[in-house]
Amino acid sequence: KNMDRRGKHTTSIQYIYLRDFEIKTWYTTPYPEEYNRNKILYVCEYCLKYMNSRYIYHRHELKCTHFRPPGNEIYRDGKISVWEIDGRENVIYCQNLCLLAKLFLNSKTLYYDVEPFIFYVLTEREEVSVGSPKFHLVGYFSKEKLNSTDYNLSCILTLPIYQRRGYGHFLMEFSYLLSRREFKWGTPEKPLSDLGLLSYRNYWKVKCAQVLINVKELSQVPDFSNLRISLQEISNLTGMIPTDVIFGLEQLKVLVRRTGNDGKVRYAIKVESWQRIESICQNWNMKSSCKLDPLKLIWKPMI
Ligand code: ACO
Ligand code: ZN
Repeated sequence: KNMDRRGKHTTSIQYIYLRDFEIKTWYTTPYPEEYNRNKILYVCEYCLKYMNSRYIYHRHELKCTHFRPPGNEIYRDGKISVWEIDGRENVIYCQNLCLLAKLFLNSKTLYYDVEPFIFYVLTEREEVSVGSPKFHLVGYFSKEKLNSTDYNLSCILTLPIYQRRGYGHFLMEFSYLLSRREFKWGTPEKPLSDLGLLSYRNYWKVKCAQVLINVKELSQVPDFSNLRISLQEISNLTGMIPTDVIFGLEQLKVLVRRTGNDGKVRYAIKVESWQRIESICQNWNMKSSCKLDPLKLIWKPMI
């Protein structure tokens, strides 16, 4: 279904072989020339080394026995883990991760200058035998370390074999959780890809719906149609910058815009149909396969 979105392949890499999957690539990526000639590129899902042949790949499998990404495991809940990886400490891994991501991104992204970034890698644990788990790569996002802007996420990817199961949403929520721990509001770096925009729109909508429901449940007022909550308060609760909150509320069709006598635009929240808001929340809860539990994050902001 992503065929029409793909650019023309100027190189011959059409698939990457990762774990037991052959994954069709969408765009090109600047792997070194000698690797760009193959139709299938073999990638180790643990260290992300790329290889020319299945033979070399199998030999590598025997040697590469970490079965997890580098860096610190800062979150674990059931099978799900998130690893924090400093671009300065694991240069090759992070470069390889960016090269891999570029296969699914049209825009120019960074590949080699990874040092100013931190990478948050999402894995799913498989207990092959007792005491020797394998942490399978699901997706990641990167974040600039020193950041004077509001950006809390630079680039995000869910591997195509895991897409549309809520992992992107989980990673986005994770990025906002980090912002909240830093006492900041955040937003993803622009421009967004078309899939990035679709996913963020959905995220902002679902998050705003959840906040409204929580506020309604805590509220003492009998009339719930005019909620007493400001954009700033929703920003504080979600970590989302007010413009993204507005976006989410607009999707929910609960935002009323008024221009005051002074010419300034003011917003009010007016809910016509709570049923609609509730079903948006319920639908999302039913379908997402992993939920973020903030209490399971063991992390302090890097200074
Ligand atoms: N078509 C339509 N809607 C979509 C699609 C799609 N292909 N993908 C996501 N959405 C929307 C839907 O509303 C979806 O909910 P639904 O499945 O109930 O309809 C919602 O987003 C949530 O989707 P998730 O399952 O949480 O997202 P996923 O794990 O698939 O990851 C991501 C989304 C990361 C954008 C993925 O599509 C991807 O890796 N794409 C390639 C790389 C990319 O474009 N990254 C974003 C670049 S912009 C930036 O990095 C700042
Ligand atoms: Zn390896």
